[in-house]
Amino acid sequence: MSLVPFDDRDGWIWLDGQFVAWRDAKVHVLTHGLHYASSVFEGERMYGGEIFKLTEHTERLFKSAEILDFKIPYTVEQIDEACKATAAKNGLTDCYVRPIAWRGSEMIGVSAQQTKIHVAIAVWEWPSYFDPATKAKGIRLTWAKYDRPAPNTIPTAAKAAGLYMICTISKHAAEKDGYADAMMVDYRGYIAEATGANVFFVKDGVLHTPVPDCILNGITRQTVIQIAKARGIQVVERHIEKRELADFTECFIVGTAAEVTPVSEIGEFKFTPAALSLSLMDEYARLVRRELVAA
Ligand SMILES: Cc1ncc(COP(=O)(O)O)c(C=O)c1O
Repeated sequence: MSLVPFDDRDGWIWLDGQFVAWRDAKVHVLTHGLHYASSVFEGERMYGGEIFKLTEHTERLFKSAEILDFKIPYTVEQIDEACKATAAKNGLTDCYVRPIAWRGSEMIGVSAQQTKIHVAIAVWEWPSYFDPATKAKGIRLTWAKYDRPAPNTIPTAAKAAGLYMICTISKHAAEKDGYADAMMVDYRGYIAEATGANVFFVKDGVLHTPVPDCILNGITRQTVIQIAKARGIQVVERHIEKRELADFTECFIVGTAAEVTPVSEIGEFKFTPAALSLSLMDEYARLVRRELVAA
């Protein structure tokens, strides 16, 4: 597969309030965010000219920055507008949207109060993460090498770059062994989340999903819970032990990038994508394209 590097593309990137040519959107090597992961980001999708739950994403970006002890020098409304403007400037109506904020290079020690806070927004075409046939069959997951850390060891509520270090390592190990992704357990051994998506299980027509007390409370997760409840499906948010996976019949992961993707296997546990997973996958797809009235 030929790879088009992300720094070698055409288009426009919104950087600190201005559009710059894609190839010129650069940072210096002595950037605090690069050295110490003082960086927070979002992943959004625009469907037919509208970014799904844009303000929720922007608000989470601001909240993540606040948790990392920095303040984004714009308003939520300005960033919302900048996200839409970036898609328009690049002539895209269906795309992935990546806002990111980070500490600059004024200081390079651990202490960095006087660093400038930068914000960039890039958009690119990114169709469904998995093709429809793979989705319908379910993807295969293995167990991650690392556990989700405790909330008093790292700010787990922030969508911060530093939290993705263990995700990349785990996803690489999974792909090396032929799996699509890795499922992480948390520091207590409870089921946590995949490397970039939340997880749901089905048993006797009821949905079970982990409590988001040390994982990202994903916007897709919240949306799927809303859709399910609106349809009268019971949703139980609780701690789920690994051994309980033997009792579940269906499993699916959810996230902005993954959307709703059925899972056929997590390590030694097998699932069969069936009515509930497939209908929620379909309803989510219709909701984001505004073919279904709000859940
Ligand atoms: C670790 C992790 N969990 C869950 C999610 C799902 O979050 P959302 O539905 O807000 O995209 C993501 C994606 O952002 C993620 O990276």
